[in-house]
Amino acid sequence: MNPFKFYNPTTLYYGKGQIEAHLAEEVTKYGKKVLLVYGGGSIKRFGLYDKVVGILQNAGVEIFELPGVEPNPRLTTVYKGIDICRKEGVDLVLAVGGGSVLDCSKAIAMGVKFDGDVWDVYQRKVQAHDALPLGTILTLAATGSEMNAGGVITNWETKEKLGGGAAPYTFPKFSFCDPENTFTVPRDQTVYGICDMLMHSFEHYFHPTPNTPLQQHLIEAVITTIIENAHAVLENPTDYDARETIMYCSTMALNGMISMGLEGDWASHKIEHEISAIYDIPHGGGLAIICPNWMEYVMDTNPERFANLAVRVFKVNPEGKSQEELARLAIDKVREFFKSIGAPTRLADYNIGDEHLERMAEQAVRFEPIGHFKKLGKEDVLAILRKCL
Ligand code: NZQ
Ligand code: ZN
Repeated sequence: MNPFKFYNPTTLYYGKGQIEAHLAEEVTKYGKKVLLVYGGGSIKRFGLYDKVVGILQNAGVEIFELPGVEPNPRLTTVYKGIDICRKEGVDLVLAVGGGSVLDCSKAIAMGVKFDGDVWDVYQRKVQAHDALPLGTILTLAATGSEMNAGGVITNWETKEKLGGGAAPYTFPKFSFCDPENTFTVPRDQTVYGICDMLMHSFEHYFHPTPNTPLQQHLIEAVITTIIENAHAVLENPTDYDARETIMYCSTMALNGMISMGLEGDWASHKIEHEISAIYDIPHGGGLAIICPNWMEYVMDTNPERFANLAVRVFKVNPEGKSQEELARLAIDKVREFFKSIGAPTRLADYNIGDEHLERMAEQAVRFEPIGHFKKLGKEDVLAILRKCL
């Protein structure tokens, strides 16, 4: 393992009835003025908006609103939120929605306390060292943003999509995860969420750090559980147990608990962000396309790791098979799984051709070579993107 410090200060409320029981108490710890941030209206359609507003009003909280956060949230929306917070003297940012709403809220919370342009933080020009308190109510299982300090923002003018944050300040102070709030997530978004949490697990699983036996088993458990429950949640979107399990997997896949002391790969994520920066496609859909192609490209680095995936997760019988054969079977199984849940398999599924591949490859490595399992330069990224066409 690498030497590590683990710190995750988010108070997590999981399950039914927690919002009714604890939201007012959590919010009022931080003050009486709240910026309520949400997306394109799903929370109004399924009743969560009324519930949250009712609880806040009963607690004497003054509510300011920032609706309309886009999937792949935009920097311009972040600026709007910062302006409201500064003008109204907001005490707490409350994000109600999916990963995009949560990420936008993190950027707002950080930007309010930042003396300069918050985009500079995402561009790695400067670091932020403070943020307004942030709370979240999650409505889509995917990103893990409810229990991590990172967020991803798109600058649509420059076609850049960058991750950033200011740990520990941008960890949510509290997050409410009620699986019932994910019952209305449409089938395609449920699929993208599953792809995203699975890819977070793979990003951790494929790493170069020695001596991580428990981490490998923990990650395998998350991968196995996602795969075991994916079809149930797609066949019956109101299956509470399946939604609960999938939601818990998404939180665990990216809150630091399964990945202590190891250096995850993250090249696939960086490549995906370049695709959605230009084409505005759903993050999980892009990952499903990249994942098996990236796997094939890097497999030779450590076939044994892929062989473990085949045997321990996909229960392939190893008898008479070489590590390389097992590794290939693991990748076949990953492809099969994505196909079985109806995830996209090629960039052509989003009508994406080869027009911008050069730019995407160049941008993906703009700060440094990407990937820790295998380091990738521009030509490597280009080769992977070509395989995705
Ligand atoms: O905008 P509304 O009307 O709310 O509709 C949303 C949106 O259209 C809808 N939705 C969410 N909850 C719903 C619902 N519809 C019905 N019922 C519900 N309960 O789903 C659509 C997609 O929402 P979005 O928030 O964009 O999805 P997701 O949670 O997958 O977030 C994706 C964003 O997170 C970033 C991605 O890059 C992307 O920008 N990521 C954030 C990470 C993090 N903070 O740690 C890590 C990830 O790797 C990822 O990069
Ligand atoms: Zn992701």
